[in-house]
Amino acid sequence: MMHSPTRPPADEVLDVRDLWMRYGTKDVLTGVSFTARRGEVVALLGPNGAGKTTTIEILEGFRTRSAGDVSVLGSDPATGGEAWRARIGVVLQSWRDHVRWRVRELLAYLGRFYAAYSTPDHPRPWDVDELLAVVGLTDHAHQKIKSLSGGQRRRLDVAIGIVGRPELVFLDEPTAGFDPHARREFHELIHRLADFEESTILLTTHDLAEAERVADRILVLADGMIIADGSADELARQMATPAEVHWTQGGQRHVHVATTGDATGFVRELLAGDGESVSQLQVKGATLEDTYMTLVERIESRRPIDEGDQLTRRAQEVRS
Ligand SMILES: Nc1ncnc2c1ncn2[C@@H]1O[C@H](COP(=O)(O)OP(=O)(O)O)[C@@H](O)[C@H]1O
Ligand SMILES: [Mg+2]
Repeated sequence: MMHSPTRPPADEVLDVRDLWMRYGTKDVLTGVSFTARRGEVVALLGPNGAGKTTTIEILEGFRTRSAGDVSVLGSDPATGGEAWRARIGVVLQSWRDHVRWRVRELLAYLGRFYAAYSTPDHPRPWDVDELLAVVGLTDHAHQKIKSLSGGQRRRLDVAIGIVGRPELVFLDEPTAGFDPHARREFHELIHRLADFEESTILLTTHDLAEAERVADRILVLADGMIIADGSADELARQMATPAEVHWTQGGQRHVHVATTGDATGFVRELLAGDGESVSQLQVKGATLEDTYMTLVERIESRRPIDEGDQLTRRAQEVRS
């Protein structure tokens, strides 16, 4: 994206450029760059240990980066003050304090801290009853926190994170441990937030299916960098997917794996040769899931990149 660093587009909420993070002698982030706009739901997708939590906590101002430029709502999170923090929502893993409080009471209490940052354009905090309705806790408003189910508790975590009507919401692996039903409800909640509030949402996940379902845009974090950035369709094109060419010749089935992702050249040559005897020609592309699974396996086993060899083998395993 081309724009002057001093005058970002009005709807640009996040701008991360060449972010580096080193723990001791270990480089975890080695040049992460991406932007996010108002109202976008962005998933930071990557295998365990890829650096998702590190990235999100740097953006939240909870960790100090090693290098790079980071702008969150126009400020550097390393120096963002209270007024900046009031514009951001952080959904923490789980709210363990205040278990004796009742749901509505706690939200009303926490919301009061945001009133000082209210403006006519952007009133804060959220009206408690509206907030309860948005997160689906109206019927549990007067229940004690300790009596909530796991899914209700998680929705309360979200309510706590957004009670100040943040312009930007961070969620780190929000659906870890959810069953499919709770997961779907949660995705709907994320969409309501983005649609009605025009909040920008950055969530992390290691689950491609989740990222595809919930996000407008997916950032794939691997090997310390964003290796793909786009919608699920764009990702499938960006992440090199090996294609397999299957055909029958001389009574035998043959398979060729085009690791470059383009089988056209191979097929042309195949038919230009003794093309007459070729039959049952098929070209099969690896799915985005195949490619992502291969990436995860490679990174989690810390094997070096092997000229697409791993991708190929995985793609064959998946389809056989
Ligand atoms: N405070 C820390 N000190 C040293 N290493 C860390 C620290 N936090 C994370 N790491 C390491 O950085 C890598 C990325 O961790 P993390 O950001 O938690 O990844 P993710 O959230 O994608 O699973 C891991 O190898 C992890 O062990
Ligand atoms: Mg993490």
